[in-house]
Amino acid sequence: MVSPLILINLKTYQEGIGGSAHRIATAAENVAKESGVTIGVAPSFMDLRPLSTHFSIPVYAQHIDGITPGAHTGYILPEAVKLAGAHGTLINHSERRLTLADIEAAVAAAKRLQLETVVCTNNVATSAAAAALAPDYVAIEPPELIGSGVSVSKADPEIIRRSVEAVRGVRDDVQVLTGAGIQSGDCVKIALDLGTQGVLLASSVVKADDPAAVLRELVSLL
Ligand code: G3P
Repeated sequence: MVSPLILINLKTYQEGIGGSAHRIATAAENVAKESGVTIGVAPSFMDLRPLSTHFSIPVYAQHIDGITPGAHTGYILPEAVKLAGAHGTLINHSERRLTLADIEAAVAAAKRLQLETVVCTNNVATSAAAAALAPDYVAIEPPELIGSGVSVSKADPEIIRRSVEAVRGVRDDVQVLTGAGIQSGDCVKIALDLGTQGVLLASSVVKADDPAAVLRELVSLL
């Protein structure tokens, strides 16, 4: 049994950059220590190095490009992400969609560098397709619920159940996360009971006055 993962995507929220990213990572590290639950953060690229240096929790990039070192102005080089201390990376987030070929190249680059891979998907069919690329995690996030304050666990548990089933139909070594509107211990418990290994979330923690209090609530039923 893989230990559950709570992965906080700081996106490009004002409340999730610089000193504020540090504040959220402090809360994540404290609650991870208290609870024994793995809590990771995916900050903006500029905050990867400071967070990976100051904290022991896993730090993830929000995106990588499937390129090798060379002349690729403006791209995100997987080697640079690894050198910045990242443990893993999101790939194909709803707000940073890629083609299937780009996703494959990004997963291959991450594997070459032993970066953990979390490939985001928007429905059951794309979850099955992503699983075929053998990432560490497929993260199913219905786009219409992202940032809505309405939890996927409560509004659309069926998409979670069917995504787990679809991923299992392709590979048994790919774990599933779910996300969109996750905000309480109940949301996390429902997601785990449906066969996922954790949650990917953003606004409920990043925009909270007290991120540690929200994180304690999120892990309260584990
Ligand atoms: O990557 C997590 C995200 O897309 C979900 O966002 O704000 O609904 O938790 P949120």
